[in-house]
Amino acid sequence: MIPGARLIILGRQGAGKGTQCVRLSRHFVVPHISTGDMLRAAVREATPLGLEAKKVMDAGGLVSDDIMIGIVRDRLQAPDADTRGYILDGFPRTIEQAEALDEIAHSLRKPVDVVLDLNVPREIVLERISSRRVCRDCGTNYTSTGNDPQTWICDVCGGDVLQRDDDTPESVNRRLDLYEEQTFPLIKHYGDQNRLAVVNGVGHPDAVFERLVKAVDNNRR
Ligand code: AP5
Repeated sequence: MIPGARLIILGRQGAGKGTQCVRLSRHFVVPHISTGDMLRAAVREATPLGLEAKKVMDAGGLVSDDIMIGIVRDRLQAPDADTRGYILDGFPRTIEQAEALDEIAHSLRKPVDVVLDLNVPREIVLERISSRRVCRDCGTNYTSTGNDPQTWICDVCGGDVLQRDDDTPESVNRRLDLYEEQTFPLIKHYGDQNRLAVVNGVGHPDAVFERLVKAVDNNRR
C-alpha cells in the first residue's frame, strides 16, 4: 500500500530540508513541493514570475505572500498531491502563509499530518551553505571540498553544478535574519495546534533521515 502523508518541513536555510525531502518523498511516495525550486525553475524559464522573483531572491528577501499562496494553492490541488499528499519545503514562511495554508487544507478537508522542525544551529548552517554546490538543472545538492573547480558536471543529469546566486554571505545572513523574524513564529503556531515535531538535524544525513521518519510515524494522526 502507498503510505502517503501530508507534511511540512521547517528549518533554517541550509538545515538540510531539500536534502531530506528527496528521501522523505521517496519513502512516503509523495511529491516534494519546494517553493524555492519552483521559483528557480521560473527564473530559468524567464517567466514573468521568474523575472520578478530573481531580484528578491538574490537579495535574500521574500517573494510576496499573495504570489506564494496562489502558487501553493494551485499545486496542492493537482492530482498527485490531492490523492497521495505532499511534503512542503519552503512554505509556509510567514504567519500569513501559514494561516492561508490552514484555510486551503480545511477547504480540501485534508489537514496537515505533521510539521517537522529540522533544528540546526546558525553557525553550522553557515558552514554548510558556504560549501553547498547545486546542479542548475535537476537541483541535486553537493558539498564542495574546497579544492573543486568552480563548475563541474552533475552525476545525476549531466547539468552544470555551481554555487547558487543567493548563497553569497550578505544574502545568506539576510535570509537567516528573516527566518528568525518571520518564520520562527510558526513554531508556536503549529505547536499550539499540536502538530509540531522538533527533530535534531545535526549528524550524518542517514541518521537525520531516520529521526525524521520516526517523528512522522510517532506524531501523525
Ligand atoms: P529555498 O530554496 O527554500 O532556500 P532556503 O530557505 O534558503 O533553504 P535552502 O535551500 O538554503 O536550505 P535547505 O534546508 O534546503 O538545505 P540543503 O538541503 O540545501 O528558497 C530560496 C528563495 O526563494 C528564498 O530566499 C525566497 O526569496 C524565495 N522563497 C521560497 N519560498 C518562499 C516563500 N514561501 N515565501 C516567500 N519567498 C519564498 O542543505 C544545505 C547544504 O548542507 C547542502 O550542501 C547539503 O549537501 C548539506 N547537508 C545537508 N544535510 C547535511 C547533514 N546532515 N550534514 C552535513 N551537510 C549536510
